[in-house]
Amino acid sequence: MAHHAILSEIGLGMQKTKVPAAMRERLLRAARKVMKNAYAPFSNFRVGAAILTSKGQVFVGCNVENSSYGMTNCAERTAIFSAIAKSGPELEIRAVAVAALANNDHGVPCSPCGACRQVIYEFGPCAVVFYEGKKGPKQSLITDLLPEGFRLK
Ligand code: THU
Repeated sequence: MAHHAILSEIGLGMQKTKVPAAMRERLLRAARKVMKNAYAPFSNFRVGAAILTSKGQVFVGCNVENSSYGMTNCAERTAIFSAIAKSGPELEIRAVAVAALANNDHGVPCSPCGACRQVIYEFGPCAVVFYEGKKGPKQSLITDLLPEGFRLK
């Protein structure tokens, strides 16, 4: 069993996910800022994401849609792929913040989609995710959003 899996089984994995409020706010601010760069002419649903790495770096991403709808890349995956493009494959994600804004500046709930949960899990099995839930701001461990995430290594 991998180190992180043992830690989370005995409840010590939680330790790694402590993110100070100031950092949470910084991530949410970065997510809201990059959201404005989204290419979302089809849904008009702009999303921004910011990730915090174990080295303390912050990377951002927005959703990029396509005329062939299925080619759309979510904000979360854009941020993660951009982090790897910039810093290499040793990425360890500590936290993810997601911000979204629908057509008319109405905030609507937005938690990471299933595909993004699996990608977050790949690089951050102990990650904490900050997002807008149905009743307001929420924070969840990725393992609560994605129980039994798939892992080859
Ligand atoms: N989207 C994201 O970027 N992240 C999410 O967590 C949910 C969905 C995008 C994909 C698409 O461009 C638009 O939101 C509507 O689904």
